[in-house]
Amino acid sequence: MSTVKLAVIGGDGIGPEVTAEALKVLEVAAPAGVTFEQTTYDLGAERYLATGEVLPDTVLEEIRGHDAILLGAVGGKPNDPNLPPGILERGLLLRLRFELDHYVNLRPSKIYPGAVSPLANPGDVDFVVVREGTEGPYTGNGGALRVGTPAEIATEVSVNTAYGVERVVRDAFARAQRRPRKKLTLVHKTNVLVHAGAVWWRLTQQVAAEFPEVSVDYMHVDAAMIFLTTDPARFDVIVTDNLFGDIVTDLAAAITGGIGLAASGNVNPDRTAPSMFEPVHGSAPDIAGQQKADPTAAILSVALLLDHLGHPDAAGAVEAAAIADLADRTPAAPRRTAEVGDAIASRLG
Ligand code: NAD
Ligand code: IPM
Ligand code: MN
Repeated sequence: MSTVKLAVIGGDGIGPEVTAEALKVLEVAAPAGVTFEQTTYDLGAERYLATGEVLPDTVLEEIRGHDAILLGAVGGKPNDPNLPPGILERGLLLRLRFELDHYVNLRPSKIYPGAVSPLANPGDVDFVVVREGTEGPYTGNGGALRVGTPAEIATEVSVNTAYGVERVVRDAFARAQRRPRKKLTLVHKTNVLVHAGAVWWRLTQQVAAEFPEVSVDYMHVDAAMIFLTTDPARFDVIVTDNLFGDIVTDLAAAITGGIGLAASGNVNPDRTAPSMFEPVHGSAPDIAGQQKADPTAAILSVALLLDHLGHPDAAGAVEAAAIADLADRTPAAPRRTAEVGDAIASRLG
C-alpha cells in the first residue's frame, strides 16, 4: 500500500468542471495498492474577489508538502474590471510554476485515431514540446514609465540564464534520446533576439555533444509556424523558451484535434517539489458552467501525472481509454462534460 498526496486546484471557469472528470478517471485508474489522498484548494477568482487572497504563503507551503498537483485552469474573462490583468495568472499559476521549480513544461501533441485535425493531410503527428517554465519574458522583469502619457515606455525583459537554459535543453535531449526518432528541434528567434538566442544556440550545441545519437535541427519560431501547419509530422522533440512554447503549443493543440485534447505537465525533474499537471487550455469563460467543455485534456493530464509518479501502465490505460472514447465520438452529437468523463472512466472500470 502506498499513499499519494494530491493537491487539487480546480480554479476558475471550466477548470472545476474538467477537474471533476479527471478525478473520476483517476479514481478508477489508480494502480492497485495506491491511494490518492486529495486536498482541495479553493484558489482562484472567487477567493480573490471574496478575500483579496491569491496564493497565501501558508497555502503554498502546504501545497509544497504534496506529491503532485492537479490543476484545472485559472483566470477570468479577459478585461474583467474586477480582476486586474495577470493577478491570478501571475500570482497563482506562474507563482506555483516558479516556486516549485517547474522548469520543464511538457506538452505532448499526437493526432489520435479519432481526433479531427483541421489539416487535410497532417501525416503521423507525434511530437512533444519541452517548453522552458521558469524564465524568459515570464519572470516579471520589466516595468513602465510615464504611464498614461504619450511618452509611456513599457518593458518586459526576457531572462535567460545559462543555468536555466542548459537544464531544460538537457532534459529535452534526454527525452529525444528515449524516443524512436531521436530528433530535437530548437525553436527560437536567434536572428533577432541575438542575446538570448546566443545562449540557447550555444548551450544546445554544447549539450548535443552528450547525446551523439540525437539529431539536432534549428528553426526560427516564425518558420516553425509554417512547418507546424504544412508538415507537423517532421517534429519529434521541440525545445523552446517560455513564451514561444506557450504560443507553439496552442497551435500544436489546434492541429491535433483541438485545445480540448491538449494535456500538460509542469515538471520538476529534480523532484525537489511536487510537479503539477493541467490541461493546456484556460478557464474558457465563454462556455463555463454549461457542461460544454471537453474534459479529455484534463483526463490526459492525469495520464501524465500517473506516468510521472512511476505508474506507466496506469498512465497507458488512461490514454488508451481516452483514445477509444475519441474514436467513438460523433461531432454532430456533442456530449456533456460529465458524460465524456463517465464514458472514459467506464472504459477503465
Ligand atoms: P481558453 O483556452 O480558456 O479558451 C480559448 C477557446 O478555447 C475558447 O473558445 C474556449 O471555449 C475554448 N476551449 C478551451 N478549453 C476548452 C475545452 N476543454 N473544451 C472545449 N473548448 C475549450 O483561452 P482564453 O480565452 O485566452 O483565456 C481565458 C482565461 O483563461 C484567461 O483568463 C486566461 O488568462 C486564462 N488561461 C489560463 C490557463 C491556465 O490556467 N493554464 C491557460 C490559458 C488561459
Ligand atoms: C498556459 C497559459 C499560461 C501561460 C498563462 C495563463 C499564464 O496560457 O498554461 O499555456 O502563458 O503559460
Ligand atoms: Mn497558453
